[in-house]
Amino acid sequence: MRVLLAILIVLGPLAGLAADINPQRAKFHYQMHCEGCHTPDGTGAMSVPRMKDQVGLFLETQSGRDYLVRVPGSAISALNDEQLAEVLNWILVEMGGDSVAADFEPYTANEVGDLRVEPLNEVERYRSQLLLEIAEQRSRQAN
Ligand code: HEC
Repeated sequence: MRVLLAILIVLGPLAGLAADINPQRAKFHYQMHCEGCHTPDGTGAMSVPRMKDQVGLFLETQSGRDYLVRVPGSAISALNDEQLAEVLNWILVEMGGDSVAADFEPYTANEVGDLRVEPLNEVERYRSQLLLEIAEQRSRQAN
């Protein structure tokens, strides 16, 4: 019984995650709506920040988590809430590398729907501020 429980605890979140992401569909949506700017592997370009091995950083604070949805490329994309949630989760799993905790909480369509009604402007300054907050939080946790 205890072993069964342990298995459920370990596999539960994974099973939930797997159910939320259809990798083929998510990749297709990424290719159609995001890749043009973000490049196939999320490396980015001059004015497009690198997501590969980094994007998970933002999940460390609530405003950072919100940011990944409120950034204009996400918020005003033609994808519906469900599709956008899936693409973001796929990006995190597929490109986030070590920056994403294994047990990260996937975005839901409802969460994404609530957040994207307030797209950001002045992104650059906002983003730097977020990264500063994350760095400060990390140094507090390290002490
Ligand atoms: C027209 C180019 C373009 C497209 C298309 C685009 N983005 Fe972006 N994206 C950007 C730029 C530029 C930034 C940097 C922030 C800003 O200036 O908006 C960014 C930032 C982001 C970020 C935050 C990354 C960070 O490190 O700050 C996420 C997440 C993101 N985009 C997701 C998406 C998703 C998901 C799609 C497709 C649905 C998408 N983007 C489509 C240009 C684009």
